[in-house]
Amino acid sequence: MRTPVIIGNWKMNLAPSEAKALLRELRELDLDQSVEKGVCVPAIDLLIAEDILKDSDIKFGAQNMYFEESGAYTGEISPTMLNDIKADYVILGHSERREYFKEDDELINKKVLSALEHDIIPILCVGETLEERESNKEEEKVRNQLEKDLKDVKDSDIEKVIIAYEPIWAIGTGKTASSDDADCMCKFIRNYIKKVYGEDYSEKIRIQYGGSMKPKNVKELLAKENIDGGLIGGASLKASDFEQLINYK
Ligand code: G3P
Repeated sequence: MRTPVIIGNWKMNLAPSEAKALLRELRELDLDQSVEKGVCVPAIDLLIAEDILKDSDIKFGAQNMYFEESGAYTGEISPTMLNDIKADYVILGHSERREYFKEDDELINKKVLSALEHDIIPILCVGETLEERESNKEEEKVRNQLEKDLKDVKDSDIEKVIIAYEPIWAIGTGKTASSDDADCMCKFIRNYIKKVYGEDYSEKIRIQYGGSMKPKNVKELLAKENIDGGLIGGASLKASDFEQLINYK
């Protein structure tokens, strides 16, 4: 049985003073202990998250990192910096980084391998555009991303990876994928892992859905066999919404 995992992706929101306020609210919530939960915050808020969430069961992480441990990479943060603050996760390959910051699969793969090497759980985002879905190319797109982004990931590491299926057309739009369509793609992803890594690992790896997951649809989505959790944007910015998401059962 896979542990459900619901993680907030704050994106570029909440300056430190606002982050302190929300994190203090979150740590006072009575949240379902059987659900793994966390927040991935802007780099400027990482130390605040470390401080306020320590001794709580809310994990935290970054929304990006470079793959080198140090060096002349202006503006970047490294895996060893994340190790220093005991960050649990790092989101990699988010569609917004692929689109706006031109991150390609080769770079994302290096980041995935580096996160695993440094014992940081990579949350690897994959998903299709509306045009790709409407032309029935969603599986081809996601397979291509998985092949490239997971290249050289060892068998012993694959179950540590959290894969987030995020149909790009559902992100921030309020247009959530139907639970059947979301489950179908998560099953496709699980079958890919089964083909490459074997059935045992495919049953252990956790696959999230992301794209307008809200309190009103979380229960239906997480009732699906192949959906193990959610990667949440907008609904992670309010304590009351976060609480309803985590306490979906
Ligand atoms: O990474 C999660 C994010 O892309 C989903 O955003 O606002 O549709 O929940 P949202």
